[in-house]
Amino acid sequence: MKHLLGIKGLDTWEVEEILERAAYWANRPAERSQALSGTFVANLFFEPSTRTRLSFEVAEKRLGADVLQFRAETASTQKGETLYDTLRTLESMGVEIAVIRHPESYILEPLAKQVKISLINAGDGWNEHPTQCLLDLLTIKQHFGQFEGLKVAIIGDILHSRVARSHLSIMPQLGISLVFSGPDHLMLEEKEFHHKARVVDMDEAVTQSDVVMMLRVQRERHHGGLILTPQDYHFSYGLTEKRARQMKKGAVIMHPAPVNRDVEIASSLVECEKSLIQKQVANGVAVRMAVLERCKQGGSKGWAFSSKTLMC
Ligand code: CP
Repeated sequence: MKHLLGIKGLDTWEVEEILERAAYWANRPAERSQALSGTFVANLFFEPSTRTRLSFEVAEKRLGADVLQFRAETASTQKGETLYDTLRTLESMGVEIAVIRHPESYILEPLAKQVKISLINAGDGWNEHPTQCLLDLLTIKQHFGQFEGLKVAIIGDILHSRVARSHLSIMPQLGISLVFSGPDHLMLEEKEFHHKARVVDMDEAVTQSDVVMMLRVQRERHHGGLILTPQDYHFSYGLTEKRARQMKKGAVIMHPAPVNRDVEIASSLVECEKSLIQKQVANGVAVRMAVLERCKQGGSKGWAFSSKTLMC
């Protein structure tokens, strides 16, 4: 694995290996290494980000990398330079890894065949957000100890969600029963499911799932405007306090964040006892450390550690 373009391209065992290594880092939040010492890593974000960009930066610094911040608003892409030419430019300077967030789906696949630099997908359009998927999986594994037999409900603006598409690629293979819920106009088309997930109503999603994962209403991608007011959305499809009381015993709330408080989730639930949202953020650093190490070393063969780490 020189690149991480998506979860779709990974075997289940590779996902499990990354999670095992991420668990190692999650258990050692103060530990640093020199695995990326002497390595230039550039973070190219063409869309807004707080968690992904900064947790990659923390991960890179904890691994001893030299971190280059690329400012899309002042870069030569503003003058018409293509992403290919930008990556070739970075390569010529000795940059080895580029972490890229971009509004265009699938933009990285052809580039990965054309450049030598390692590419890590930090979210491409509606396609995939592999490191968010991995950190969600780590959080679920830490909490429940296993994936097999769990039911996960992903609720909300599924249509615009690269996180939902990454989860659809892997959760069923891990033994998770995956259901989606939300407004009809924000749901994937039937053909995208590949029979791996079911669409259920809000009642079933909330009351019968071990993980209730709420998604942000991606207002910036609703070019025709929102059909529902934020209040109506909250009433019909949000995780209200009343719905949260109906969750299964032991069930947890997740959200990739940023959250629209009182739209897809009641503000009081964001940091409630059932919420793993801050844990997800913390795990973002651990997962990104594991991914960066793996890309630097070109796959598991190069990993200089025993993969016997137990999940916490
Ligand atoms: N979850 C996520 O990708 O958050 P950011 O947009 O803040 O990076």
